Amino acid sequence: MAVAIENPFLVATYHSPAYFCDRTAETKRVTNALTNGRNLTLLSARRIGKTGLIKNAFYQLQKKKDWQTLYVDIMPTGNLNDFIKLLGKAVVEHEWRRSKNYLKKIAILLSGISAKLSFDPITGAPEIGVEYKTRQESEKSLSEIFRYLSTQDVKYAVAFDEFQQITCYPEKNIEALLRSHIQHLTGVNFVFSGSNKHLLTSMFSDYGRPFYQSSDFLFLEKIEANAYCRFIREKFAKHGKAIATELIKEALEYYRVHTFYVQYFFNKLFENSEKTVTKVMVEQVHRLILEEREHIYYSYRNLLTSYQFLLLKAIAREGGISQPNASDFIAKHGLKQGSSVNRALSALVDKEMVYEETGVYYVYDVFFSKWLAKIF
Ligand SMILES: Nc1ncnc2c1ncn2[C@@H]1O[C@H](COP(=O)(O)OP(=O)(O)OP(=O)(O)O)[C@@H](O)[C@H]1O
Ligand SMILES: [Mg+2]
Repeated sequence: MAVAIENPFLVATYHSPAYFCDRTAETKRVTNALTNGRNLTLLSARRIGKTGLIKNAFYQLQKKKDWQTLYVDIMPTGNLNDFIKLLGKAVVEHEWRRSKNYLKKIAILLSGISAKLSFDPITGAPEIGVEYKTRQESEKSLSEIFRYLSTQDVKYAVAFDEFQQITCYPEKNIEALLRSHIQHLTGVNFVFSGSNKHLLTSMFSDYGRPFYQSSDFLFLEKIEANAYCRFIREKFAKHGKAIATELIKEALEYYRVHTFYVQYFFNKLFENSEKTVTKVMVEQVHRLILEEREHIYYSYRNLLTSYQFLLLKAIAREGGISQPNASDFIAKHGLKQGSSVNRALSALVDKEMVYEETGVYYVYDVFFSKWLAKIF
């Protein structure tokens, strides 16, 4: 039986559409691409809700009896063999959950990819060990896994989350290798998802690169504020708590409607509130969140030069800046004139401390931004 959800604002996992706000059109775009035999690339800033969207779309797809879904987060992989092992493990685990006779079913796959099978002593879940010495062995195993998926009597949707990770693998021509498999598969379609906009965009749209024009694109925007406001009010109401629309709207704006930060704030507010949410409670929760993180935020200072930190603070205080070289911005925040702003800014963008959206630079982590705006 599923565990009851006590706090309706989820901050780490996907549960079901009941705890997932809106994204109706986006969910349809994902499922429509897949069911019509197209792959899809999903991009957004960090923590906007890509993983949630994939899971919500897969939740819908799984209702169709001829569809199976595999979600693979490749962030922990560092090379081609890690990738193959993770994909193989996902397939084996999936079959384990799906059918009692899974061992018979995957025997050929296991031998095809030269994998050793073992079992988790607590859960009984199958684990696989693989070791490939040559590129040839790795490539053969990869094609065995894809062949397995495309020869089942169901269709597969496979999501590779944090897909930009493949560009960090030391092996050459990984993009070409994957592309050569993916384009010839029948009954298997893919979602490639990631946050590194630049990397993924060029991977899929630069002429001459292997994934050129091979997939639909979905740039995931923020959740529409009115829909989010309704969702939040309903969740409080369902648990017998009242909250004024004005307070919700203010908090949404305060956290730039950035999904993770909104969810986290309302999770805490829900926990700390009685029957009626007051402005005092809201202020308290804003403070509480920053106090908890203060230690981490002070340590961020050591990752930056003092000039970068000063610039970051200035951006936070302005709540975003479109013209970082403007003389009034530079003078107001005690920054030096000249090219140093550009250099520091590009270092901050590289470190993913700053994010650029439609020509405005923001401190990426919204809580950090609030903290920076308050300290001396
Ligand atoms: N539509 C939604 N309604 C409610 N909560 C959501 C929604 N989308 C995402 N979330 C929640 O917001 C948080 C961040 O979402 P998610 O992890 O999907 O973002 P992401 O873009 O994949 O982030 P990252 O870039 O870190 O991988 C999660 O806790 C998730 O449960
Ligand atoms: Mg994610």
